[in-house]
Amino acid sequence: MQPTAYEPDFTKNDFAFWARVVHFESRYWSINELLTDIPSQNILELSSGFSFRGLAQVQQPNVHYIDTDLPEVIEDKKQFMKALDAGEPATGSKLETIPLNALDEEQFIEITDHFAPNQPIVIVNEGLLMYLSLPEKQKLFKTIHTILSKRGGYWITADIYINRGPVPEALKRSDRLTKFFEKHKVHEQMFESFEVAKQLFNNAGFVVDKEAVTDYAKITAIEPMMKSATEEQLALVRQGGRIQATWRLKVG
Ligand SMILES: C[S@@+](CC[C@H](N)C(=O)[O-])C[C@H]1O[C@@H](n2cnc3c(N)ncnc32)[C@H](O)[C@@H]1O
Repeated sequence: MQPTAYEPDFTKNDFAFWARVVHFESRYWSINELLTDIPSQNILELSSGFSFRGLAQVQQPNVHYIDTDLPEVIEDKKQFMKALDAGEPATGSKLETIPLNALDEEQFIEITDHFAPNQPIVIVNEGLLMYLSLPEKQKLFKTIHTILSKRGGYWITADIYINRGPVPEALKRSDRLTKFFEKHKVHEQMFESFEVAKQLFNNAGFVVDKEAVTDYAKITAIEPMMKSATEEQLALVRQGGRIQATWRLKVG
């Protein structure tokens, strides 16, 4: 069998692998955390991939969740969802799983019109901005700003990634995901610093309303990550500093 991009071998004593799992777990929960203290009856997720936050959110009553990604991903995701057979949403809740190219403004606006009129919405995403060039990011910022200016609400993005230069060898995994990042110049498309990121969002008419704080008690991969770490790896991680943040933005 071909390995997947993430090559998940959960028995492996591999620090770089577990550090990656910790990162993805933490990123997932950071969005949920920022959803808890705002009205979040109407949620649109962009580029959700094979994440099933929508299924979980509609277990609460009166949540309309629209889960989107590119058409080919949504086609496969619908098959997965059929197989998962997660049951009916809670009373008053609804999950839509539909294609959306986040750079297609017309399609984007049409989809947000699925939500009840005159209600605020929350747009969420993780793992998208670093695949977009600066002009593409700015196009997306403009679309989201237009929508939130009209309806009210928030944008929660976990994609505030900082380019800290090449990953040290001791922290690197030589796998398909690493090669994928190199091919798509993911590091080059990260922000130069948190200040530069903030300025770009401010220039697009957003202000940072809140930043997520990692709740390590929720992260199941912490234990295997620490068990597999060498002193050198831990020191490198500490020296490297923070590379990612999740921000809740609103129209300024
Ligand atoms: C790294 S994955 C992240 C998936 C998921 N959010 C997660 O955290 O597991 C990036 C996703 O972005 C999607 N994507 C790339 N360009 C996109 C675009 N222009 N509009 C919508 N989705 C896009 C890809 O199809 C892919 O599912």
